[in-house]
Amino acid sequence: MEKGDVASRIAALTKELNDHNYKYYVLAQPSISDFDFDQKLAELAALEKAHPELLDPDSPTQKVGGDITKQFKTVRHKWPMLSLSNTYNEKELKDFDERIRKVLGDDFEYVCELKFDGLSISLTYEQGALTKGVTRGDGTQGDEVTTNIKTIKSVPNRLKSGTYPDLFEIRGEVFMHRAAFERLNKERVENGDIPYANPRNFAAGTIKLQDSSEVAKRPLDCFLYFLYMDDRDRLFKTHWDSLQAVKSWGFHVCEHTTLCSTLPEVLAFISYWENARHKLSYDIDGIVIKVNNYAQQHELGFTAKSPRWAISYKYKAEEAETILQSVSYQVGRTGAVTPVANLQPVQLSGTTVKRATLHNANEIARLDLHELDTVLVEKGGEIIPKIVGVNKDKRVPEPVQIAYPTECPVCNTPLIRKEGEAVHYCPNELGCPPQIVGKIQHFISRKAMDIAGMGNETVEVLYKKGLLTQVGDLYHLHRHQSELEQIERFGERSIQNMLQGIEKSKEQPFQKVLFGLGIRYVGETIAKKLANSFKNIDNLIQASTEDIAAVEEIGERIAQSVKEYLSNPLHLQQISVLKNEQLQFAIVEEELQLTSSKLADKSFVISGVFEHYSREELSKLIVENGGKLLSGISAKLNYLVAGDKMGPSKLAKAQKLNIAIISEDELIKMIQ
Ligand code: IVH
Repeated sequence: MEKGDVASRIAALTKELNDHNYKYYVLAQPSISDFDFDQKLAELAALEKAHPELLDPDSPTQKVGGDITKQFKTVRHKWPMLSLSNTYNEKELKDFDERIRKVLGDDFEYVCELKFDGLSISLTYEQGALTKGVTRGDGTQGDEVTTNIKTIKSVPNRLKSGTYPDLFEIRGEVFMHRAAFERLNKERVENGDIPYANPRNFAAGTIKLQDSSEVAKRPLDCFLYFLYMDDRDRLFKTHWDSLQAVKSWGFHVCEHTTLCSTLPEVLAFISYWENARHKLSYDIDGIVIKVNNYAQQHELGFTAKSPRWAISYKYKAEEAETILQSVSYQVGRTGAVTPVANLQPVQLSGTTVKRATLHNANEIARLDLHELDTVLVEKGGEIIPKIVGVNKDKRVPEPVQIAYPTECPVCNTPLIRKEGEAVHYCPNELGCPPQIVGKIQHFISRKAMDIAGMGNETVEVLYKKGLLTQVGDLYHLHRHQSELEQIERFGERSIQNMLQGIEKSKEQPFQKVLFGLGIRYVGETIAKKLANSFKNIDNLIQASTEDIAAVEEIGERIAQSVKEYLSNPLHLQQISVLKNEQLQFAIVEEELQLTSSKLADKSFVISGVFEHYSREELSKLIVENGGKLLSGISAKLNYLVAGDKMGPSKLAKAQKLNIAIISEDELIKMIQ
């Protein structure tokens, strides 16, 4: 293809795919199959790869993210991001309506909107391009998270051509659909990461991630609900009109937003959504009621915290009474025992609830639970319902108190409870079936050793047959071909696939192996940090708790858990078996190209937030110029590169040891 043809093909594909994204994510009316979309996207990506000079920053291929952003910059809001006062019943809403009527008389309208349960965000568009995305923060200033916002498919990076103003700010709510939340949270549990309690926390945690390619993997959505710009009120007379315009510029405005002229209409809207909200694919926690006309909004004005022209009506978390039939105790792969309440099935928030979490023994004691108690179950934003109380009037005669077991419900080993921890553990790591099976299942999982051809059920079957009792046994399975062949429904092909998958897993990098070991609190991200900081398992085994805690983002609790794990002779023996099988226990470092040796024999610690470079970039510069990075401040250290928001204790320690404290600019000067 001629270059001119390539350019026009890229432009045509970009426009077409952006249109499809709009139809899919904003209008929810796709007009192309996913397959065709992916084909076109692949074609565009290939053309862009061959002609990087033609890459348009607004290309739909850029919606997949990939940049590591710096620590977020703090940005002041041009218009403060206020909150709303809340009402919880009809009376409070009537009072609000009367206050408004006193000022405006009867000639006004309300706009009723759903109150999305996510996190609010402010987006700035200049000449139709998204230039800034800022979190609410404290209402006056927030974090700039533009790169992350750009991964949200329903937020246009560039507006469709039209009559949008040159500069405006638009506010809305970033949230995660329940289905995505449940799927991703399940994955987190499988990976040993701590699950998020509800979609709102998941969305908030995601928007604050440093790595936007990770953000892109977690589908977020965004509804826009408020427009700000200098001469807005000349252009639009009402909030409703602005929402219609905003919709036509390509933004996702919720289709349930409704104009109401009287309070009874508002109340009808509220009561309709009280039930209907359970059928939405996302969580709402109430309704927002806004006076429609801008001039009237100005007349009403603001209090210090919130506008007088808007209010929220919050739904109560739904509760239901049911009977506690029994409590069962589940043993996880780490040995943690979790009590679960089995309930007489009851309808709650549109679903049938049969089980509720009880967290730990303290919770059971706090509720003073007895067998066959009538309990009050609540389903708030959390996916798993919880027991919030007991109706003691309905307690059966001679009630039997729920007694927390002293022994593991599976292997009968006495349970232990560490000081300061609420959770009971079964310490029989090597003999307790759910722990053994769970650990192996974790080890083979996609984000760990990624053993294709082997699933959770296979692990269970092989465990029952005595072929698998610890992860090291996986690598001896090939010696048991005939036993494998005797297993029902385990054909020759599946056996070969599994054995090949196991062999191939030996290529998994160190961080995956480390994650696969299933050390308590060591999720994927922490495993990666440990691997990069300590380079190999021997360094990590020799490191002290303090050395481990000196790694960025690794706290005392994680450090202690790692140290404890690697001090246990049983674990060390398991590691040595895996090492003999040639698994990767060291990172493969890229050949380092030194740009200079200006920093030779000098050691550095980087701490804080910097204006021009990210910490990763500064580390790279130091190493490329022959310098050495240390993990903590000690007398051996030559320079502390200090940015903003650095911990005062680090600074004090460096000062005490007389270590040179330099800025990022001073570091750059040293290598120029
Ligand atoms: S309007 C001054 N509209 O609720 C206007 N807020 O307590 C304030 N929220 O921080 C915002 N859905 O995060 C507005 N349809 C909606 C909303 C909404 C959810 C959140 C928003 C805000 C909080 C107010």
